[in-house]
Amino acid sequence: MSEYLTLADVELEGRSVLVRSDLNVPLDDGRVSDDFRIRAALPTLEALVEAGADVTVCSHLGRPKGVDKSLSLEPVANRMGELTRFEVGFENGGDITVIENTRFDEGETSNDPLTAESLAGDHELFVQDAFGSVHRAHASTVGVAERLQSVAGPLLDDELKAFRKLTVDPARPYAVVLGGAKVSDKLGVLRELLGKVDRVLIGGGMCFTFLAAKGMNVGNSLVEDDLVDMFKRLMEGPDGQKIILPVDVAVGESFSPDAQRRVVDVYAIPDDAMGLDIGPATCSGFRNLIATAQSVFWNGPMGVFEWEAFRYGTDFVARAVAASEGFTMAGGGDTVAAL
Ligand code: 3PG
Repeated sequence: MSEYLTLADVELEGRSVLVRSDLNVPLDDGRVSDDFRIRAALPTLEALVEAGADVTVCSHLGRPKGVDKSLSLEPVANRMGELTRFEVGFENGGDITVIENTRFDEGETSNDPLTAESLAGDHELFVQDAFGSVHRAHASTVGVAERLQSVAGPLLDDELKAFRKLTVDPARPYAVVLGGAKVSDKLGVLRELLGKVDRVLIGGGMCFTFLAAKGMNVGNSLVEDDLVDMFKRLMEGPDGQKIILPVDVAVGESFSPDAQRRVVDVYAIPDDAMGLDIGPATCSGFRNLIATAQSVFWNGPMGVFEWEAFRYGTDFVARAVAASEGFTMAGGGDTVAAL
C-alpha cells in the first residue's frame, strides 16, 4: 500500500477537480517558447476529462510580485488548447479550465488561509501533479491540500517512484554529481546526501568555493565567501573523503561568451582568470566514477554550458551518465535545459 493516494484510489466521475500542474514555462514576446511542461501536464488533465471530471488547472508562472500581465497564464491556456483535442478555456469554460497565475495573489506564497480557501472553492478533489512545486508551502500546494481530499497525480507519482530508487536502499556504489553556479542553493541537498551516498562529484561554479576552502587560489572565479569555512569543516568531517573535486578547470579571462577557453591545473589558476568549466582530466575521472556507480543522481551543469567554449564538461558528464548501466536520474531546471 502506497503512503499516498493516487487517481486510481478515488472517484472521478462527475466531480469538480482542481489540479495543480507545473505550467511554469518560458514565454517569449507573449508566446510559449518551450511547451515541454504543458505537454507533460496534459495526459493527467485529459485522463480526468475522460473519466468524467470537471477539470480546473492552476499553476504559478515566474515570480511576479502581484499582478503582472506579462506573466499571465493565458498564452499557456492557448497553447494547451492547440495541443489537445479537448476544449481549453482560460478563467472559465471548456473541458479544461486554466485559471490565472496563482502568484498574482500575494497570499499564494505566504499560504494565506483566505487564498487557499478561495482556490479550494467548491472543488471536491485536489490533484497535486506539480513535482517542481511540491517543496513550496504555498496556498496552491499545501493550503489547498489541507482543505480538499488530495491525491498525487501521475507525474508526481512517477517522480516519487523514481526517487524511491535513490532513497530507499539504492544500488551501490551511489554517486551524485553536483554542479550549478550557486552552492548556497544546493547546501541542504549536499548535507542531506553526504551521509547517504558513496561519492559526491563537484563541478560547475560551485566547485570554486570548495577549492577556495582547500586554500587554493581560484583567481576571479565565483566564490561564496561566507560558505568557505563551513565547506572546510565539511571536507574535514567524517564524510569529507566522499567529496571529489576537479583536478583541472577551463578558465576564461572574463565572464563573457567570447572568453578564450584555457585549461589549467587547479593548483595553477591565474589571478586574473575565471573558472567557467571543468577540464578534461576531471571529466575522465568523473566518467570512471560514474561508470562504476550503480546509482547516479545528477543535478547542476558543470560549467557555463550556454557558451560553446565552456559546454564541454556538461556535455561530457551528460554522455557519461547516459552511458551508465546503473539507475540514473538527472534533474533541475538548468540540467534539463542543458540536456
Ligand atoms: C521551477 O521551474 O523550478 C518550478 O516551476 C518552481 O518554480 P519556483 O522556483 O519559482 O517556485
